[in-house]
Amino acid sequence: MKEVKIETTLQLFEDISELPKDIQSLMSSAIEARENAYAPYSNFNVGASILLDNEEVITGNNQENASYPSGLCAERTAIYYAGAKYPNAKILKMALTASSKNKLTDKPIPPCGACRQAIAEYELKQGQAIEIYFMGATGRVAKSDSLSNLLPFIFESSVL
Ligand code: THU
Repeated sequence: MKEVKIETTLQLFEDISELPKDIQSLMSSAIEARENAYAPYSNFNVGASILLDNEEVITGNNQENASYPSGLCAERTAIYYAGAKYPNAKILKMALTASSKNKLTDKPIPPCGACRQAIAEYELKQGQAIEIYFMGATGRVAKSDSLSNLLPFIFESSVL
């Protein structure tokens, strides 16, 4: 038996004002998208903003449905649209923000497991890391230099 230890690294910014200016702007787009989320069932709004290497910014938010599993997270709404509209563009950076009507979200809120798997597909496809910044409604912002930091033991196509 051999034990394998996996470590991961994140950077924490005290708040949005400590971010580089271009990321503040990307996060502002995510906040705007978050405000337009359709989340009448969870009251939990999520916004995602993606910067592509062609300088386009694509945003998305969560879209819920009375048939709950038919809804989709903000991250996948945005990344699938980016993939659909600009199939050859590389994804450089993502900014994510979440807020709740029921409680204060003042800690960084990471993407769910299904969204990490979806983002991983694009990171592997393009062979270039995607920087991911995530926050709640206020407070600290976490940065991951790559999706792989958020999803060790990734499931990927070489096993198929
Ligand atoms: N949600 C996202 O949009 N992204 C995540 O990474 C986690 C959860 C949405 C799905 C649902 O509309 C609401 O947040 C509550 O789970």
